Amino acid sequence: MSNASLPGGRWKLGDSTVTRFGYGAMQLAGPWVMGPPADHAGAVAVLREVVELGITHIDTSGAYGPRVTNELIREALQPYPEGLFIATKVGAVRDTQGGWPVARRPEDLRKQVHEDLEVLGVETLDLVNMRMGNAEGPQPGSLAEAFGTLVELQQEGLIRHLGVSNVTAEQVAEAQAIAPIVGVQNMYNLTHRYDDKLIDRLAAENIAYVPFFPLGGFSPLQSEALSAVAARLQSTPMSVALAWLLQRSPNILLIAGTSKVAHLRDNVAGAGLSLSAEDLVELDRISR
Ligand SMILES: NC(=O)c1ccc[n+]([C@@H]2O[C@H](COP(=O)([O-])OP(=O)(O)OC[C@H]3O[C@@H](n4cnc5c(N)ncnc54)[C@H](OP(=O)(O)O)[C@@H]3O)[C@@H](O)[C@H]2O)c1
Repeated sequence: MSNASLPGGRWKLGDSTVTRFGYGAMQLAGPWVMGPPADHAGAVAVLREVVELGITHIDTSGAYGPRVTNELIREALQPYPEGLFIATKVGAVRDTQGGWPVARRPEDLRKQVHEDLEVLGVETLDLVNMRMGNAEGPQPGSLAEAFGTLVELQQEGLIRHLGVSNVTAEQVAEAQAIAPIVGVQNMYNLTHRYDDKLIDRLAAENIAYVPFFPLGGFSPLQSEALSAVAARLQSTPMSVALAWLLQRSPNILLIAGTSKVAHLRDNVAGAGLSLSAEDLVELDRISR
């Protein structure tokens, strides 16, 4: 693996060092993250290309498919290369309609962690995020019982690092009062900047912020200002959106998702774009 040319450099995530340019595996499952991919060989090829490009951080969940992306990761990448860091998340399962019902009782979380271990074929999970909230986003309320179960699983040696996801700033602080976290995974991108203050606080504490939907997720980012900056730089809105995140704060780790090798390569090339002060001012206005 060579990651010398990946944009963004590296970040220390707990006791590991990962490339800031990571990969989100959710898009590898079937439509609406249910069932197998239409192109199985293509999905395996994307994961192998991730490693080939030197990317060392993959984000996944047993709820994707369900099990599908974890099965693909194991099929494509085992034996796992030295230094590959796989982050999962627990707190929701899937119903037959493709919904994401919450499953956060201690027994639910234990089951999800054990399933992730089994399906990924590992003895310890590198990072498990406690996913709170719902499809509308973070919801207020205590995460102590759920997060406490992950702390127990960490003490049992099944989890190396803990994180939280889809959470309010108060819930981040609550988790930190219970046990150290290495990252927060929330929705954030050029048009959705609710977490600006939280990102800065976490940066000061050397805690990673991992934005999900960096490219808008199921609804691609659309903004005249973004298109104008991309056109001026002879680039694409996707590239500008990723480059902006890398420049926004050193603790931001990218996990953009794609089911296509060509898009993965475009994203690696595009995220290295250098944005000028003028570009940044224009991009800042998008969320105002
Ligand atoms: N914690 C949570 O609650 C949570 C929630 C959602 C997601 N996540 C994580 O965050 C990761 C990222 O989110 P995401 O994948 O949903 O959204 P995203 O990264 O914002 O966008 C992915 C979409 O952009 C498209 N795309 C990517 N690169 C492209 C390119 N160069 N040109 C054109 N289209 C491109 C993909 O389509 P193609 O497949 O056609 O490239 C896909 O439809 C997920 O993989 C998952 O690991 C976490």
